[in-house]
Amino acid sequence: MNTAPLQGIKVIDFTNVQSGPSCTQLLAWLGAEVIKIERPGTGDATRNELQFDPDCPSYYFLQLNSDKKSLALDAATPDGKEILTKLIEQADVFIENLHPGAMDKLGFSWENVHKINPRCIYATIKGFPVSSRFADLKAYEPVAQVTAGAASTTGWWEGPDNVPTQSGAALGDSNTGMHCTIGILAALMKRQHTGEGSFVYQSMHNACLNLCRIKTRDQLTLDRIGYLTQFPQYPNEKFADYVPRSGNQEGSGVLGWTYKCKGWETDPNAYAYVILQRGAKDFEKACQAMGFQDWLANPDFNTADARDRHKQEIYARVQQFCIDKDKFEVVKALAPYGVPAAPVLSTKEIMNDQSLYDGNTLVKIDQGGKIGEFVTVGVPFTISDFQPTYGPCPALGGNTDEVLTALGYTTDQIASFKANGTTAPVQK
Ligand SMILES: CC(C)(COP(=O)(O)OP(=O)(O)OC[C@H]1O[C@@H](n2cnc3c(N)ncnc32)[C@H](O)[C@@H]1OP(=O)(O)O)[C@@H](O)C(=O)NCCC(=O)NCCS
Repeated sequence: MNTAPLQGIKVIDFTNVQSGPSCTQLLAWLGAEVIKIERPGTGDATRNELQFDPDCPSYYFLQLNSDKKSLALDAATPDGKEILTKLIEQADVFIENLHPGAMDKLGFSWENVHKINPRCIYATIKGFPVSSRFADLKAYEPVAQVTAGAASTTGWWEGPDNVPTQSGAALGDSNTGMHCTIGILAALMKRQHTGEGSFVYQSMHNACLNLCRIKTRDQLTLDRIGYLTQFPQYPNEKFADYVPRSGNQEGSGVLGWTYKCKGWETDPNAYAYVILQRGAKDFEKACQAMGFQDWLANPDFNTADARDRHKQEIYARVQQFCIDKDKFEVVKALAPYGVPAAPVLSTKEIMNDQSLYDGNTLVKIDQGGKIGEFVTVGVPFTISDFQPTYGPCPALGGNTDEVLTALGYTTDQIASFKANGTTAPVQK
């Protein structure tokens, strides 16, 4: 049976942009009923951000809001507050990511929502933890990356490109949504025992810092011994008292680097990542694969510690091995010997990879109309007896009448909400 794990769970989704919507996207795909509250007339900011056509919602919005219902609602009006209160009375989860203080101002703080429905879990996403000196700041992706150690440890440590660098991965946004999902699922489990909803507070800072844990590991080591053997700067350069940027060196004790492959002069992604593991047997096989058997008897290379001290020579020689092969040939040559290696793939190559569609890593959603089909990343894990289905995104306010009718409002009341600005922009 294809029973959705969150079947029967009702989520009131007062989130915008990416962090909150990525969380509720996953909840919807896992089978929850997600009612997205959107400001009448404007809706989620991403609807009209980065559009490919002025008449269509952007891919940004489409990729984060499928299978949700949209209720256009001004929660600042008396009717809006009454409607939201009724929704909360029936909800299992209420989630919001307005700027700090905004939800309290609207009258739907955790304390108030808990009074309305003690079973309802209240999840909130903010830029920073409440204890932080930055707690009152508004936050977008880079705010999380620059304050959680991601930017200061990413990029080049010397030369003209020595600047704090952002990751292309959404460490502050979607990663926060995934962390918040874990908190919500834990609170749902807890409620089974206690019967009571909890307050889940998820900051973008904490989510990003959680993924920078190994950089805090490096800081601890640096504080103790003053250098980091796995970094490309070791042993020739002096370390400061903070974790430096490490280019493309692998983050753990193994030796990894990004190497140019055939065609790199014209193709910016003609690179392969190659890792030399620390074990003697693994190193021997890597030497066989690349024809470096002379290293096996050379004390500069035949132990892992020696290799740490001679990284630059290793990088240079592996580079020679890679340069006359394309990135796929490099992997093909090394994989049979158990050498961890992978091609650097462009977004185009990834999205053209049929095997990713076969396994539902990437999925196609039929939005219909002018948009037609679009590609998105599906549920990023599989569950043995559950296959998610992927439906279209709602139009702004597309489910307003349906949601209000289900709450018991009459046709006349629904019409008056439209006329007084609660569910539609006020006509001037
Ligand atoms: C993303 C962010 C910077 C945007 O800030 P913003 O432009 O001020 O927009 P917000 O959506 O927070 O709120 C704007 C106003 O609209 C109001 N609003 C939004 N939806 C509403 C609705 N359905 N009904 C009534 N009012 C609504 C808010 O109450 C707020 O009013 P106020 O300024 O008078 O307090 C901010 O929301 C934020 O820092 N959020 C927390 C971190 C986060 O999730 N960031 C996004 C990462 S992808």
